[in-house]
Amino acid sequence: QAPLRLGIAGLGTVGVGVIKIIQRKANLLAQRTGRSVVISAVSARSRDKDRGVTISGYAWEDDPVALALRDDVDLFVELMGGSDGPAKAATEAALAAGKDVVTANKAMLAHHGQMLAEKAEAKGAALRFEAAVAGGIPVIKALTEGLAGNRIERIAGVMNGTCNYILTRMENEGLSYDEVFEAAKALGYLEADPTLDVGGIDAGHKLALLAAIGFGTQVDFDNMVLEGIERITIEDIRHAADMGYRIKLLGVAQMTGRGLEQRMTPCLVPALSPLGQLENATNMCVLEGDEVGQIVLRGAGAGEGPTASAVMSDVLDIARGIRVPTFGVPAAALEKSTPAVAATP
Ligand code: NDP
Ligand code: HSE
Repeated sequence: QAPLRLGIAGLGTVGVGVIKIIQRKANLLAQRTGRSVVISAVSARSRDKDRGVTISGYAWEDDPVALALRDDVDLFVELMGGSDGPAKAATEAALAAGKDVVTANKAMLAHHGQMLAEKAEAKGAALRFEAAVAGGIPVIKALTEGLAGNRIERIAGVMNGTCNYILTRMENEGLSYDEVFEAAKALGYLEADPTLDVGGIDAGHKLALLAAIGFGTQVDFDNMVLEGIERITIEDIRHAADMGYRIKLLGVAQMTGRGLEQRMTPCLVPALSPLGQLENATNMCVLEGDEVGQIVLRGAGAGEGPTASAVMSDVLDIARGIRVPTFGVPAAALEKSTPAVAATP
């Protein structure tokens, strides 16, 4: 079979992680898909930055749209971030040209997922986003494929590595918010705009994407009860610990008789419960289906290796010719949701 030729836009934490996997595991990837996975061209803001990987063998494009439209790019991999701007422009361009897209960009999908899924469908292109939710945990695949025979009743969990990292290190080591924040940054956990992390917005984007898949509704980020961890103090964390609890930024989405309920808020959880024992950037997704009951997925929610692992799962599916609609069902079949609770003003 012909090689699958990638164009990768974004050479930061995740982009570099993907390049490392493709460079180090070429044989394994070819064995698993029956074809080689190669990189044709890359793009980022700065051409000269040392990124710790060799990229001189790939063509360079300053413009991500030009990258997406290159003749030698079959699959556009969007790893720049940002809900609008070049990420959205290049994704739209790739889909309009009928090219498959893999992205880790939850912000873009939370705001434009329906439109992008419709564009992909109209052109018979794939739009995949395993890395966008819960880092290395294959939760999208679990919902769209593993639990496809279930009616999903509830989705819950801790979905932002940065917040969990900050909360647990402050509690365990008595470190200040600022010290922990810098450590999270060095580990590549933070969004380019960290207020998305600590404001609960990033986790909210992820919950909205899971809810769309789970409940067959259009992504409805605007109707979510949302609160971040910015107002949590070290005293709050200590008081919670004294009572045997930990503070977690916890998301819950469920379909009620009144409509879709989506909440992403700091909650007290028993310290000895599975959720209470999540340390550092670990995420946990709890999925409840009418046939399977409850399943729990736990793993690294952010960082280079885990996120690149999730990107590669989508890339390999595309290399194998596996086609799954973006949100598990055709975009045209997704219904507008009726919010059961008022969004946080
Ligand atoms: P980084 O900030 O580390 O990297 C972003 C990359 O995109 C950089 O290489 C940057 O170029 C490039 N870039 C940014 N803006 C432009 C632009 N206008 N034109 C061309 N290139 C641009 O981000 P991450 O790798 O951490 O994240 C990438 C995506 O993955 C985001 O959507 C993020 O939400 C998502 N994600 C990240 C995770 C993580 O743990 N980091 C986990 C899950 C998802 P340059 O280097 O030259 O500045
Ligand atoms: N900033 C995100 C987090 C990256 O901390 O969870 C993973 O999506």
